[in-house]
Amino acid sequence: MILSIESSCDDSAIAITEIATNRLLFHKKISQELDHSVYGGVVPELAARLHAEALPRILEQVKPYFKDIKAVAVTATPGLAVTLVEGVTMAKAIAVALQIPIIGVNHLVGHIYSLFIEKETSFPMTVLLVSGGHTQVMEVKSLSEIKTVAKSMDDSFGESFDKVAKMMGFGYPGGPLIQELAKEGDRLKYNFTVPLHQSPLIAFSYSGLKNAVRLAVLDANGDETRYKDIAASFEHIATKHLTMKLKKYFKSVKPQNFAIVGGASANLYLRSQIEELLKPYKAKLYLSELKYCSDNAAMIGRVGVDMYKAKIFSSLESLDISPKSNI
Ligand code: KG4
Ligand code: ZN
Repeated sequence: MILSIESSCDDSAIAITEIATNRLLFHKKISQELDHSVYGGVVPELAARLHAEALPRILEQVKPYFKDIKAVAVTATPGLAVTLVEGVTMAKAIAVALQIPIIGVNHLVGHIYSLFIEKETSFPMTVLLVSGGHTQVMEVKSLSEIKTVAKSMDDSFGESFDKVAKMMGFGYPGGPLIQELAKEGDRLKYNFTVPLHQSPLIAFSYSGLKNAVRLAVLDANGDETRYKDIAASFEHIATKHLTMKLKKYFKSVKPQNFAIVGGASANLYLRSQIEELLKPYKAKLYLSELKYCSDNAAMIGRVGVDMYKAKIFSSLESLDISPKSNI
């Protein structure tokens, strides 16, 4: 069995995954969303302190599995430095105490593997990762052959939802709140410009759209109907930006397997628009189960299983955290 730990942002999670079958034997996540909600975003030091409280509480529950644990897998990159340290320090202590190897996992690979929890992998695949920290397209051939072909030049898709919600005075995370608000709004009411629509680049950018929304929110001055229209128009344009760039990408590459992963892949409008986009290409769309879209330790454990089988271990001395991903 693999014991896995996730603490890259505001979710403290631990999982136990069976190596031979990929079965998830235990998974528990304590989310800090409510704690950060009043600040409209994640406060790193507060997050670190809450991990320090939550992780040992979850670990207590997995003690009965200790005798069967073959390795400990932990998110080591990317994420908030102060919160990654909490998980990695715990993982190192477990590795020493149980005399087992340690596996440093890239959180982005974790999101890719959220597709394969309790399943076999199905590569090659093109994966769109949309989370709070990342918006990028990756061509994945295997665990260790991952090529990023497009990424955001500034904010991420999920982060832009968080910021729009904050502008309107709502809590965190903004994605689900804006999605709800958008359902009752008119998507075509505000004619926001699609980011980079004239650029040949296959890349993403959300800072310009965010600023346009900021002006609209100021102008709406708390009017509920206008907020709904802004939310709907923003969601529409934020999504159109993704689909327009993907269409460009599909002109040269026609993937048979396409996936959307990450916290924001829970967005229903995004899912429906990508489904439409894929139809002419007859590509198969893969999605994670809703409960595994956002950060969790089950996906880290699933990567851990494949890294264990490939004998990719870290040494206790060299395993370090890195806030930036090399993928
Ligand atoms: O993957 P995740 O849990 O954390 C990171 O690795 O960043 O993603 C969290 C992000 C937040 O920005 C949140 O607002 C966004 O995912 N999100 C959504 C939705 N649900 C969560 N964004 C848009 N629509 C949603 N339904
Ligand atoms: Zn994540």
